[in-house]
Amino acid sequence: MPAKSIQTRPVHPDIERILLEESQLQARIKEMGKQISRDYAGRKLTIVGILKGSVIFLSDLMRAITIDCTVDFMCLSSYSGKGSTGVVRFLLDLRDSAEGRDLLIVEDIVDTGLTLHYLLDNLKTRGPKSVEVCALLDKAECRKVPVYAKYVGFKIPNHFVVGFGLDYDEKYRNLPYVGVLKTDGK
Ligand code: IMP
Repeated sequence: MPAKSIQTRPVHPDIERILLEESQLQARIKEMGKQISRDYAGRKLTIVGILKGSVIFLSDLMRAITIDCTVDFMCLSSYSGKGSTGVVRFLLDLRDSAEGRDLLIVEDIVDTGLTLHYLLDNLKTRGPKSVEVCALLDKAECRKVPVYAKYVGFKIPNHFVVGFGLDYDEKYRNLPYVGVLKTDGK
């Protein structure tokens, strides 16, 4: 194949600035994968991906995990546009039983904590051996209810961010970086 010049993808015009570059995200996810592999060695790890925001993070994280594991998915909804409604709805549940398993919930971002708080309460009634949380991003200053995430990729300030799986009204999930959305007209 003929050599091509490297094309850098232009920043999306709706993005005010990039908060986390693709290379930073990848490096951190590799570290998280190593830590999880160490912590769960010899255990029955089930990764629970929370749709849809975790999909990009999850697919990279899973490839950075070097021990045997299974994956299942849940879909909850608490957001409309840029704000948490506080009302959490179950749109999709686990396919397999959680009983006796070491569950690792994989989330894109923890903001108010309302979604995770609801989810953790619900999962704990199903008899898992353990439940922990792994979130790519943490907006700790926005918490309305306390939730503990054992694994956090990056703590970020209170901005509405998109990209790397995160959306605004279903847009921008495919951006390879995490960026702050411009506020005008959004
Ligand atoms: P929480 O219930 O407020 O913690 O919100 C959790 C969910 O809200 C996340 O899983 C995201 O889907 C969504 N969310 C929270 N903050 C943001 C953001 O800055 N950008 C995109 N989605 C967000």
